[in-house]
Amino acid sequence: MRIRKATEQDKKQAIKIAEELKEWFTRTAIKNMKIDFDLNSLIVIIDKNKVFGFLCYTSYSGRMQLIWMGVKRSVQRKGLGDKLLKWLEREAKKLGLHLIEVETLPDEDDYEPYKQTRAFYYKNGFKRILYRKSRTKGEDDQIVLEKKL
Ligand SMILES: CC(C)(COP(=O)(O)OP(=O)(O)OC[C@H]1O[C@@H](n2cnc3c(N)ncnc32)[C@H](O)[C@@H]1OP(=O)(O)O)[C@@H](O)C(=O)NCCC(=O)NCCS
Repeated sequence: MRIRKATEQDKKQAIKIAEELKEWFTRTAIKNMKIDFDLNSLIVIIDKNKVFGFLCYTSYSGRMQLIWMGVKRSVQRKGLGDKLLKWLEREAKKLGLHLIEVETLPDEDDYEPYKQTRAFYYKNGFKRILYRKSRTKGEDDQIVLEKKL
């Protein structure tokens, strides 16, 4: 398995992985993800040109922002997410950025799939710093998590 900047072909495979993770990514999320993939940076973890996971990121005002990530269901919990995150941490340090930020569903929301997501971030040293109440009907509240590098 190795990580590379996504090609157009990789991008399509990454969207396919996300579409299969329906408990996490709604149709609206997928629509937004496609735009984010085009406007921001995307890395993928591959084996023989087959994509098994992805991570989309950007930087904003001195912070690295983790926008989306996902690992193919059949290979979750085998350390691929960890590899993608480590890559992002190295990249951030190279750029002189000392923080990674990510938004996710709050711990107060007991929707099961996102408990797994938060477990992943907390295990990797992210700390909760902010609760953001939704201002748009139909949108969920979010928390902001931060990892200092
Ligand atoms: C979150 C995600 C990217 C992590 O990638 P991964 O390759 O599965 O994670 P790793 O193997 O590197 O790390 C494993 C850790 O993640 C968490 N985790 C992953 N799958 C889990 C599950 N099914 N149940 C509970 N915790 C889980 C745990 O903390 C686990 O550590 P442990 O095995 O010591 O308990 C992946 O599970 C995923 O794609 N989830 C769905 C999409 C998502 O939540 N994306 C992030 C928001 S955009």
